[in-house]
Amino acid sequence: MQVTIVSSITTSKLTRFFRNQSHFKALEYFVIPAIIEKKLIEGDRTMRIWSAGCSTGEEPYSIAMLCLDLLPPGFELEVTATDEDSHLLIEARNGAYPESRVEDVPHRYLKEYFGPIPGGYSVTGKLKEAVTFECRNLKDPTALRDRDVVFCRNVLIYMDQAARKSVLASLREAMNVGSYLFTGDAESLLGVDASLESVKTAWTTLYRKVRV
Ligand SMILES: C[S@@+](CC[C@H](N)C(=O)[O-])C[C@H]1O[C@@H](n2cnc3c(N)ncnc32)[C@H](O)[C@@H]1O
Repeated sequence: MQVTIVSSITTSKLTRFFRNQSHFKALEYFVIPAIIEKKLIEGDRTMRIWSAGCSTGEEPYSIAMLCLDLLPPGFELEVTATDEDSHLLIEARNGAYPESRVEDVPHRYLKEYFGPIPGGYSVTGKLKEAVTFECRNLKDPTALRDRDVVFCRNVLIYMDQAARKSVLASLREAMNVGSYLFTGDAESLLGVDASLESVKTAWTTLYRKVRV
């Protein structure tokens, strides 16, 4: 089947592959090794990640490429990506991007996880299988559980205090104790929730769930 590029994105929905390199460095060098170590001790071999407010899919696909690269043999990867905007999710599931939007994808990933289409590239194979898209409003209670890593970046910034509080409750509900939360650089949660402690890494500050 021929995959074609369709785009309906607006400014508040903008995203990019590997947006904010410092987050992906922290994921690569700090979070993934910590979660692998924890899982080896617990005897669990599935890494479960939630990309909350995923827009057209660049964030969950970026996370999935890095994880597919780094997870040891025998580990499974489940990336659940959610957004309230069903039109964006059609693009995300389609996974077809013009050349200008894959500029930040390292060449070796482009070769391994994408196929050429007229005017751009389309996500293929293992990468497509690793990411599942669901239409959900983050203000509603979530059924997601057991997440090892949650990304909710550049979403809370558009919400008032009450909405942020209910979204945070959902994110926290989905997280395992010992799991990590990434927010956007302008979305500090400092002091907002006692079950999340901030963790300063060499690359960025993120949050760890320290108790139920
Ligand atoms: C600026 S984009 C951020 C995309 C990506 N997380 C990133 O940082 O590149 C914000 C996304 O959050 C989604 N969003 C905003 N409020 C939401 C809500 N209440 N529930 C689910 N998604 C929401 C928007 O539809 C949009 O796609």
